[in-house]
Amino acid sequence: MEILRSKAQLEAYIERNREMGKKIGFAPTMGALHEGHISLYEAARHENDLVVSSIFVNPTQFNNAEDLKNYPRTVEKDLEKLDDSGFVDAVYLPEPEDLYPDGVQSKKYSFNGLETQMEGASRPGHFDGVGTVVEELFRQVKPDNAYFGEKDFQQLAIIRELVHQKKIPVKIIGVPTKREASGLAMSSRNKRLTGEQREAATVIHQTLLKVNGWFRVVTVPEINKRVQEIFENERGMVMEYFRIADEDTLKETDFFYKDRNYRAFLVVFVGSVRLIDNMHLD
Ligand code: PAF
Repeated sequence: MEILRSKAQLEAYIERNREMGKKIGFAPTMGALHEGHISLYEAARHENDLVVSSIFVNPTQFNNAEDLKNYPRTVEKDLEKLDDSGFVDAVYLPEPEDLYPDGVQSKKYSFNGLETQMEGASRPGHFDGVGTVVEELFRQVKPDNAYFGEKDFQQLAIIRELVHQKKIPVKIIGVPTKREASGLAMSSRNKRLTGEQREAATVIHQTLLKVNGWFRVVTVPEINKRVQEIFENERGMVMEYFRIADEDTLKETDFFYKDRNYRAFLVVFVGSVRLIDNMHLD
């Protein structure tokens, strides 16, 4: 696996491989890698000649300096995991000036209202930061296909909108959420849970499964009430939000219209750890 430590190294590598006509698959990360990330590279390996990863803790998508400071930085371990997976040909480890030559700040985007829902409302400016770094990474890596986890479904929808608006020629592929045997969605944050909390957090996925069972059988307000009650009775957990949203607009719905697709989104604090999950309803 090649390690590319600057924009110049990356660009030379990409040009060399493009000249050979290789199809490039790419998945950017902020490191602290787990099996969920590896599943992106596994998907990419099947569909591309060359698989590129990047690790960059992007300052502009944090709306809290403390969060940025505390974000786990485990590059050596991450490189080992990528190499061991056997799915990745090269990893790009840019410095801030490689991605932000004019200073570390976000561009401003409007993503058709997708950015104002859910995580956008809870984390102002977050999606401007994600858009800025992903747009720049796409311009440098020039992938044919790019892979993002469905666990961050809103991010995936926004990146699809970004490439559409900016006419960036890359196909965006959503990869289903990788789960532990218990159903808990894999996340770098799970490491911060105690054994007991990790066990208790399985209620998040179980609740989404229940919601799927109630889909088009129980009314949306009644489902909202039932979910609220579940978390009111969970000690050590606080639900930040639950909503059923239209899968295309991400707007909350209070009714299941025919011919629309819906997804349930759930955010819960387990102790001080904020966990997010979602599920397509069918
Ligand atoms: O999902 C992430 O890890 C980040 O938001 C991303 C897409 C790598 C951009 O920094």
